[in-house]
Amino acid sequence: MILKPSRALQLLAASLALAAPAAVAQTAQLSIQLDKPLHPVSPMLYGLMTEEINYSYDGGLYAEMVRNRTFQDHGFGGLSHWNLDNKGDARSTIVFDATEGPSAALPGSMLFDITSADASNLAGVRNEGYWGMALQPDTTYKGSLYAKADADNSVPLTVSLVSDNTRAALATASIGNASSTWKRYDFSLKTGKISPSSTNHLLISAGHSGKLWLDLISLFPPTYKNRENGNRSDIMELMAGMRPKFLRLPGGNYLEGDFIDERFDWKTTIGPLVDRPTHRSPWNYQSSDGMGLLEFLEWTEDLKIEPVLAVFAGYALKGDHIHPGPALTPYVEDALDEIEFVTGDTGTKWGAVRAKLGHPAPFPLQYVEVGNEDWFDKSGSYESRYAQFYKAIKAKYPKLEIISTAPLKRMKPDVLDDHYYKRADDFFRFVHHYDDADRNGPKIFVGEWATREGAPTTNLGAALGDAAWMTAMERNSDLIIMASYAPLFVNVNTGGMQWESNLIGYNAAHSYGSPSYYAQSLFGEHLGTSVPSSSITNAGDRLFYSVTTDTVKGTTYLKLVNASSKPQPVEAAITGATLSSTATVYTLAGYTTAETNTITDPKRIVPVKSSIKTGAQFTHSIPPYAIQVIVLVTK
Ligand code: AHR
Repeated sequence: MILKPSRALQLLAASLALAAPAAVAQTAQLSIQLDKPLHPVSPMLYGLMTEEINYSYDGGLYAEMVRNRTFQDHGFGGLSHWNLDNKGDARSTIVFDATEGPSAALPGSMLFDITSADASNLAGVRNEGYWGMALQPDTTYKGSLYAKADADNSVPLTVSLVSDNTRAALATASIGNASSTWKRYDFSLKTGKISPSSTNHLLISAGHSGKLWLDLISLFPPTYKNRENGNRSDIMELMAGMRPKFLRLPGGNYLEGDFIDERFDWKTTIGPLVDRPTHRSPWNYQSSDGMGLLEFLEWTEDLKIEPVLAVFAGYALKGDHIHPGPALTPYVEDALDEIEFVTGDTGTKWGAVRAKLGHPAPFPLQYVEVGNEDWFDKSGSYESRYAQFYKAIKAKYPKLEIISTAPLKRMKPDVLDDHYYKRADDFFRFVHHYDDADRNGPKIFVGEWATREGAPTTNLGAALGDAAWMTAMERNSDLIIMASYAPLFVNVNTGGMQWESNLIGYNAAHSYGSPSYYAQSLFGEHLGTSVPSSSITNAGDRLFYSVTTDTVKGTTYLKLVNASSKPQPVEAAITGATLSSTATVYTLAGYTTAETNTITDPKRIVPVKSSIKTGAQFTHSIPPYAIQVIVLVTK
């Protein structure tokens, strides 16, 4: 995870050289007693939160290359992201036909009506992908489509990947003649020695007149761990670099939908893609539901992390709610079925369904979250809705911990999900929020949080706010058991972003981490297992710190955040253990708080590794605008 670009080393040297006496902050005194543990660090402290927003799955993590593959996105302007591409004298039209489809879930399709075409005048229809289609040399792309013709063997079909700029066919496959009943056709497109680029499209062409209905046109590059219907490797690897412990799935507004029938209805997201009807997400675009419940769970499996399962709780974003009592019962039963799908063995009804879909082994599960941000529900129904879910889930699964998304008056939830979206300065003032909080109340899950500065991904100033807040969460990790930043992803193309300030950005070909991403990776990699006693004086209001020890590794992690423009000297006095005379330091720093990483300059701000002299007492100067992790080794 640690990179050493020369620019970052120059910056570190420059920031240290800037330490002219007049510009230096007053020296802070930090004292740490390593033999006085206060409490364990929550082992699940840092995780991930996910929802379909900013083209997180479609056009993001989910590796599908064809956009609007089932044609739900159509209207006055025609079939979005599809265009006619008739060559020479070929003539054809495309239109959405609501009466012809390959399944009950997909009752409509694209009618490709070819009035004139032959081998030298090919009729064609092309898909532009998610802001292009990224192609690599010597790579096999696996595709499939459903087709039906108006007469048997009438229309021979060819699929190709074509360069937008040169019209060169970079890979081609023939899929023969479509039959007069709906059938699935699989194909492979293999590129040769091409230059990597994203300015490509998928072309389906035919050299014969006739009517053809097409649906679920799909194309995948090689995926992470070669999963069918899988994820982009680059984005999975970025997430692995954060050392997360869990995935809150699916969180946010996406769980709720704008209306109840637009909720994340998990039963419609499992099984063959042709049986998934797709649904509108509250972020105003159609979700393909290719990333369904089982794909979420496989994502956790691939990262070796746990799911935190969020179940729909009877409230939709625009204010509709299901009254607690008998009307809510089907939704509670749906949640019980969902838990069984995740955890049940193959002898259970939903465990058997999961096994039939290719995953006989159950997934681990400790936490179930009831709803999302139900403090928005002005009907006052949440407490009773939560209680109904709680009672039913605990009766069947007594070991599960049930997370509430709003404070309750009449009962104590196992865990309360608090969300914080703030500017950096607000986080600097907020770092003591949990220091004196009631330790007899519910445990806290900070299920969404972020310093909101910078777009589409956050800048160094945001990373400083994040790091300050993470020091506070570590200090209070006897109470805060889990935390997940949001939103996790953004497609940086124009039109890809619905929410500013995101952790990881990408386009069709490349992805990168924001400075906030690297701050989290540093904290996640150096979590520790225990918080020792410590205190600081003369710290000012721009210096934040956290100390944790890893009792297994014999290391102490000192995290320091200097959010000021001045170098910050710290005199450290450490008792209770003998330390090695040198320590490794990871520094994430920049010249201004506006400095950031982008899709074209992705590694401008990354951690830089160095070392310092340490011992029972040492003085250390933190560069301006810097986050540092000092790894002290016990002798
Ligand atoms: O993370 C973006 C949104 O912020 C989430 O969908 C919602 O839970 C919160 O209000």
